[in-house]
Amino acid sequence: MKVFITRPIPKKGTEMLRERFDVVINDRDRPATREELIEGVKDADAIVSLLTDRVDDELLDAAPKLKIAANYAVGFDNIDLEACTRHNVMATNTPGVLTPSVADFSIALMLATARRIVESDRFLREGKYRGWGPMLLLGKDFCNKTLGIIGMGRIGYAVAERARKGFGMRIIYHDMSKKDYADELDAEFVDMDTLLRESDYIGLFVSLNEKTRHLISREEFKKMKSTAILINTSRGPVVDEEALADALENNEIWAAGIDVYENEPAVNERLLGMKNVILTPHVASATEEARDGMAVLAAKNVIAALSGEKPDNLLNPDVLNEN
Ligand code: DGY
Repeated sequence: MKVFITRPIPKKGTEMLRERFDVVINDRDRPATREELIEGVKDADAIVSLLTDRVDDELLDAAPKLKIAANYAVGFDNIDLEACTRHNVMATNTPGVLTPSVADFSIALMLATARRIVESDRFLREGKYRGWGPMLLLGKDFCNKTLGIIGMGRIGYAVAERARKGFGMRIIYHDMSKKDYADELDAEFVDMDTLLRESDYIGLFVSLNEKTRHLISREEFKKMKSTAILINTSRGPVVDEEALADALENNEIWAAGIDVYENEPAVNERLLGMKNVILTPHVASATEEARDGMAVLAAKNVIAALSGEKPDNLLNPDVLNEN
């Protein structure tokens, strides 16, 4: 059986697959083009897709033998689940293995933004440092403040845990589905308005779907404290980037730390020119440990599906009724 991997991923996963299947890797270190994807899936039994690959009707139509689209990511907004089910294709993701890395990074982004670490580094390298100064590059404390978590899933919870146990923060959270999650953190479920009004730090940990697209836009920024710091390590379109640029420009919020963008890899030009925002290139899960874990999990999902078993991380269980 043939497994098509759309871009090189860590060997740990690839080797597991090579032991069992004929593995073809699109060996270019850039996202596969549409043509390369369509060519690659033609005779494939499985595809290991990345968040930059759209898995939709067009691709599935080109893949008559396909049994599984194993996404190498926890987010799966690039996969049309209904189309997969219609085509009798299982879809899976890689939850859990990247949670600690993304949570650590989210905290790092909050701290770096609050303490102006990137700006300080730049200031020094530009030769502007003339000695200690009482008012030099003042930031904001992180410990003992209020952290608002939007999306209390695995990653949101891991961020809350670090903030509560490591930094003594008060945790409030809003989540569309879970309201009884976080007793051990003294976390308080609040409505969205309360979260926006009371948080010193706001972290976004939701998946992208029609309900969360532009979840944070002009109205939401207006409700935030002028001292608030917004962090986004989820998906870019959860934040309206033009509204974010306005909010930063007009001092409606104090700063932001952004790892994901509305039209990746493009980044809003206005944000690029601002000092009160830290911009990183979608690297929250970029540790060797997380990426190895993702590769292994994607491989396990493929192996299960091609062995006639139900993969652990099946996203469209309805597909099993089709068989
Ligand atoms: C994910 O897994 O969804 C991250 O955004 C990329 O690692």
